[in-house]
Amino acid sequence: MLNRQVTVRINPELCNGCGLCVRVCPKNTLSLEDGRAVITGKESMNCGHCAAVCPTEAIKVDALDKHALEFATFHTADIWLKPGTFDVGFLVQLLRSRRSCRNFKDKQVECRLLEDLARIGATAPSGSNCQPWSFALLEDRYKVIKLADMIGDFYRRLNKMASNVLLRELMALFGKRELKLYSRQHMATVAEALDLWEATGKDPLFHGAPALMVIGADKNASCPAEDSLLAAANILLAAHCMGLGSCLIGFAVEAISRDRQIRHWLGFNDSQAVYAVIALGYPNEKYQRLAQRMPISMHYVDA
Ligand SMILES: Cc1cc2nc3c(=O)[nH]c(=O)nc-3n(C[C@H](O)[C@H](O)[C@H](O)COP(=O)(O)O)c2cc1C
Repeated sequence: MLNRQVTVRINPELCNGCGLCVRVCPKNTLSLEDGRAVITGKESMNCGHCAAVCPTEAIKVDALDKHALEFATFHTADIWLKPGTFDVGFLVQLLRSRRSCRNFKDKQVECRLLEDLARIGATAPSGSNCQPWSFALLEDRYKVIKLADMIGDFYRRLNKMASNVLLRELMALFGKRELKLYSRQHMATVAEALDLWEATGKDPLFHGAPALMVIGADKNASCPAEDSLLAAANILLAAHCMGLGSCLIGFAVEAISRDRQIRHWLGFNDSQAVYAVIALGYPNEKYQRLAQRMPISMHYVDA
């Protein structure tokens, strides 16, 4: 997974020897020799910082795809915003306006929006710049229901196992306490949700969402879980900007993580794991004001 191949190219004709690329390189891939930037390192993170900082456009990084962040549904200026030049008040208003949405309109989300959301996810930072994510898009309600059914089957099997006292005690004895904890913390709620789904068709898992995004990543990347959740955070915020409601669905992640068949159905291979599931759709809810947060714990560390 960790591809460290150097794909940086420097055009010596254009390089003015300013050394800015050397300064921002996290891997010491570049150095200055005879007043010109040259590649001296054996590895590269292919982060593109060198190319982005170069005042004469002398650097190219072949591993990077200049079309990867071409968006279909909105325009964005390809201009770097200097620190301090974007209004933090607007950002916080956006952060605070995003809500987990659990009421969706019966209206399909355009594929172009879903694809743009995946691209926005990929602008997140990632451990060692692995960019290990892969986005499975479920663009219609029929597919969402199919996944919900598979997850329902998974939880029915799990509840059957967890109601077996002997089995859960035996597993706990061998250090596997998950089943015991599950039976205490979630089994009853899950059973109730499954009954509701069966009896009324009401969807307590995905809240009736017409679309889903499932974020998987290469398990062997540096930090696949963190990378996926950071991508997810970008997607939640961008979805709000696009007029969409979103909700992370941890219960689905749990099932998909433990069920290889569901992962394969979603198009993930055995070297990938799933770390986030996002329900998406046009929101059928409206707030009058911002929600507050619980008291925030923070402290200075004594030296
Ligand atoms: C890791 C994670 C898993 C979550 N799983 C679910 C879930 O399975 N179902 C659900 O309705 N909400 C889920 N949520 C949404 C939280 O309940 C929600 O973020 C929280 O109540 C705060 O509300 P807000 O998102 O509107 O600020 C999850 C959130 C996170 C961060």
